[in-house]
Amino acid sequence: MQAFDLVLFGGTGDLAMRKLLPALFRRHLAGQIPADSRVLGVARGALSREAYLARVEQSCRQFGEGAFDATRGASFASLLHYVSADARQPDSFGAVQAVLAGREAVTRIFFLSTTSARFAGICDPIGRTGIATPDSRVVLEKPLGQDLASAGQINAQVATVFAERQIYRIDHYLGKEAVQNPIALRFGNLLFEPLWRRGSIRHVQITVAETLGGGSRGSLFDQTGALRDMVQNHLLQLLCIIAREPPTSNEANAIRDEKLKVPRALRPLTGADVLAKTVRRQYRTGAADGKPVIGYLQEAGVPADTTTETFVALKAEIDTWRWAGVPFYLRTGKRLQEKVSEIVVTFDEVPHWIFGGATGLPSPNRLRIGLQPCDSITLTILAKKPREVMTLQAVDLSLYLAASFKAQPLDACERLLMDVVKGNLTLFRRRHEFDAAWSWIDPIREGWARHDTDPKGYAAGSWGPAASSALIGRDGFAWNGEL
Ligand SMILES: NC(=O)c1ccc[n+]([C@@H]2O[C@H](COP(=O)([O-])OP(=O)(O)OC[C@H]3O[C@@H](n4cnc5c(N)ncnc54)[C@H](OP(=O)(O)O)[C@@H]3O)[C@@H](O)[C@H]2O)c1
Repeated sequence: MQAFDLVLFGGTGDLAMRKLLPALFRRHLAGQIPADSRVLGVARGALSREAYLARVEQSCRQFGEGAFDATRGASFASLLHYVSADARQPDSFGAVQAVLAGREAVTRIFFLSTTSARFAGICDPIGRTGIATPDSRVVLEKPLGQDLASAGQINAQVATVFAERQIYRIDHYLGKEAVQNPIALRFGNLLFEPLWRRGSIRHVQITVAETLGGGSRGSLFDQTGALRDMVQNHLLQLLCIIAREPPTSNEANAIRDEKLKVPRALRPLTGADVLAKTVRRQYRTGAADGKPVIGYLQEAGVPADTTTETFVALKAEIDTWRWAGVPFYLRTGKRLQEKVSEIVVTFDEVPHWIFGGATGLPSPNRLRIGLQPCDSITLTILAKKPREVMTLQAVDLSLYLAASFKAQPLDACERLLMDVVKGNLTLFRRRHEFDAAWSWIDPIREGWARHDTDPKGYAAGSWGPAASSALIGRDGFAWNGEL
């Protein structure tokens, strides 16, 4: 692997200290960081290199694997540098330029781990000082803007310095091995693809449930809400993985071409559909782990009159030959009963039931892809009950991937960082994909703003509001676990 210079804007921030630098440390311990590489932390704070190293060391101890000691950590420390620069003052970039001088042959990565409002301010001097080489890469942290207009503006500004092939729009969720498993399942096995369509699949559910509340990062979440924070990226990503057409190869462009078609084919939720097909709520007081917990409006940093939603459920439809008539139900929320992420695909009934009884068993075949708390695949089938003449009963075929492979998954952050180093764009989102996602999300927010400015509540520690069960219940289905 070629050596790299990683310029980490926001190098003292929470993400850098908690995730990015410990991830680099672990890859260093795994022998994957070429010796001539460098990591240059950039932020406004006036810090000496020694003070920066001390902070990184503390974080690596806290969040990394094992001690940052003389034998294991010293060689990592030698990669680390720090420069004080202000994205709002392009003149201060001279110091960044000086550190990079003479290393044009080394892969150059600019990681923008600041709020996206700073991206243009950082890219502009990168362009003007000429430190972006033709092969350099820029990594953009999420969230990228707040709507189609702001995301488009940021993307346009970044594009004045970097070509699309150089831009890595990161979403740590996509680096999780569990999120990539459905791709292997669908396209590595003959079994599922012939049935992966209308006529065989009745409906699909995607749930990303959190037990945590707004917490200390409450004010950041409050500016975004569950629709933009979770549905716009994580849930739509999972929807794209489930609904995309088979790509011609595992090459990044082939995969990203197919992925883009899904958000573009989503039926717009506008007008009366916004109220009929979406549920928007805020958690109120309740209980978590047997203890009383406060409601969202009482959380630190959350404005007492905020209307930001902490729960969303919606019904999405994809207007393609493959998916016409197959509903996709999405739900996500904070302070729910369990931390669970799952995709549940429910298949149709057999066309002719030969085992007696009027209707047979309703939709017995289900494929549950568990992403949290553990990476699992469960296929529910009907089998003959022993000792009975021909009585059928649903049974689960379950696979727990960590146990089956006797290996723990690679950390998402490590995986994505190394993909950037290797120049692999497969797991990063294209600009057009963002545009398509925001184009679908924005009208939902506009509809809410017109009709329903004051979200009702749900009890913390529950599975969300009754309206969410009613949304799916109206079509004759139920959320997994409510059956
Ligand atoms: N934290 C997470 O778990 C997480 C998860 C997913 C995505 N993200 C995203 O990652 C980005 C960073 O988040 P964070 O939590 O690390 O934020 P943060 O803790 O507020 O850190 C921001 C960093 O940017 C630097 N900075 C701010 N203004 C600057 C300027 N004008 N010029 C140069 N540096 C500047 C800050 O240092 P100085 O104040 O010293 O300049 C600090 O190092 C955000 O876009 C966030 O949405 C974070």
